[in-house]
Amino acid sequence: MPDDKLIWPARLHHLNLTSEDPEALVDWYSRALMMEPRGIAKGETWLRGKNRHFIISHGPRGGLKYAAYTLENEAQLIRLRNHICEKDIAVYPSPSPLMEDSAFMIADPDGNQFVLGICREAAVTPQMLPGRLQHVVFRTTDISRLVAFHSSILGFRVSDVVKEENGEVTATFMRSDPEHHSLGIFRASETGLDHFCSESTSWNDIRDWGDHFAGCQIPITWGAGRHGAGNNLFIFVADQDGNNVEISAEIEHWTFEQQPREWLHEQRTLNLWGSAWLRS
Ligand SMILES: [Fe+2]
Repeated sequence: MPDDKLIWPARLHHLNLTSEDPEALVDWYSRALMMEPRGIAKGETWLRGKNRHFIISHGPRGGLKYAAYTLENEAQLIRLRNHICEKDIAVYPSPSPLMEDSAFMIADPDGNQFVLGICREAAVTPQMLPGRLQHVVFRTTDISRLVAFHSSILGFRVSDVVKEENGEVTATFMRSDPEHHSLGIFRASETGLDHFCSESTSWNDIRDWGDHFAGCQIPITWGAGRHGAGNNLFIFVADQDGNNVEISAEIEHWTFEQQPREWLHEQRTLNLWGSAWLRS
């Protein structure tokens, strides 16, 4: 594989969310996303599922300590690390217990932290509804700086770019394997986490998730709909701390070589079926 593929292929593996009330958040994910909690350190819980993992620790409400991506093998990881070091980006030890020892962490210009590594083989527990943790989206006040970082330092490929009529970029969707986006960056008035998503297998799964959330008395906050960018079906709910949790299906697949596509910043770009939630 040529060196210029860098992070390709990689998948989002887990997120470390922080909360002022971690116990309540663990309870929410156990119930709502059908995950098995397991204490891994003082004040830190691993929420385990077959294809979705979260670590919840004490910290600011709605905070994300890091997003962890798993690469294909150690050789790819070494090539990526060498590339990052050549660009004079600081590399830190990985705090993640779910990654092999070779994992490391970097910070982007907004201070969002990314663990890059190879996930440890983990005993899995059955989950009632499918949904592999698939993408994470950040808000930023400087979208061009963040997109440039993730393109040139990590090698994410730009899929869809959303622009206003005057050409100003409002959103960029980036991929690290054939799935349309594993990372999204939205223009906003503040930096931080926007949402994260688990990809299920079909429209019927979305229906079943909707019924499950209804049974938990958790209302759908946006959707059902179909995104223009990515073409995926979706519903959103909010967790105990107000984090936006998406369940989607049918996300588009793109090749490595495919060139970026442009969308106008309007409702249909974010929801072909109806009203959009425009962040800016
Ligand atoms: Fe999303």
